[in-house]
Amino acid sequence: MAALKVGVLISGRGSNLQALLDAAQAPSYPAEIVAVVSNRADAQGLERASRAGVPTAVVPHRGHRDRESFDRALDAALRAHGVEFVCLAGFMRLLSPWFVENWRDKLVNIHPSLLPAFKGLEPQAQALTAGVRLSGCTVHFVRAEMDAGPIVLQAAVPVVEGDTADTLAARILAAEHRAYPLALRLIAEGRVRVEGERVVVAGAGAGGVLMSPGGG
Ligand code: GRF
Repeated sequence: MAALKVGVLISGRGSNLQALLDAAQAPSYPAEIVAVVSNRADAQGLERASRAGVPTAVVPHRGHRDRESFDRALDAALRAHGVEFVCLAGFMRLLSPWFVENWRDKLVNIHPSLLPAFKGLEPQAQALTAGVRLSGCTVHFVRAEMDAGPIVLQAAVPVVEGDTADTLAARILAAEHRAYPLALRLIAEGRVRVEGERVVVAGAGAGGVLMSPGGG
């Protein structure tokens, strides 16, 4: 089966992008990263893509009359590279309903909490404030509502005594780097189906769960 052609949207550091690039190096990996698109020219992830030999594009969000016109430019950049599936990896712009519908069930995001808990900004600090004992990350299909949509996979990490938002974020990030490549693998293998706003993973009892001992 031909590898799924994936485009990754970023705005910054790109460590999740790096995890996807690294996974896609393996000849047996069922997806190929064919383009990385950033709304910021200074995104560190762009260098990671270039180092991996993956084409990049910068589509600045400024100068567009509205969100949809920016999204149409993003869409054009992705289509120009033959992208079939999109991963958001630290992409800091809200996407318009037009874009989300155009890529329905072909668009996933990773969020550093166990959704539906702690949507939005600084979810790690939200988790500490709530006093939860477990947190983690979620890979989910994107819907127009922020940080909502059918859940593909979650990875849990413990919250430990003395954690700060930074130490918890680092533990969750390590889990993200395992979860995102695994989720994309399941999708690219054709094992992930959306049924009534829930995901069914074929051939896997606990296919959508990762547990991380201690340091992730
Ligand atoms: C990650 O924590 C991701 O879950 C969130 O934004 C952060 C991006 O980090 N959506 P990076 O750019 O992948 O290093």
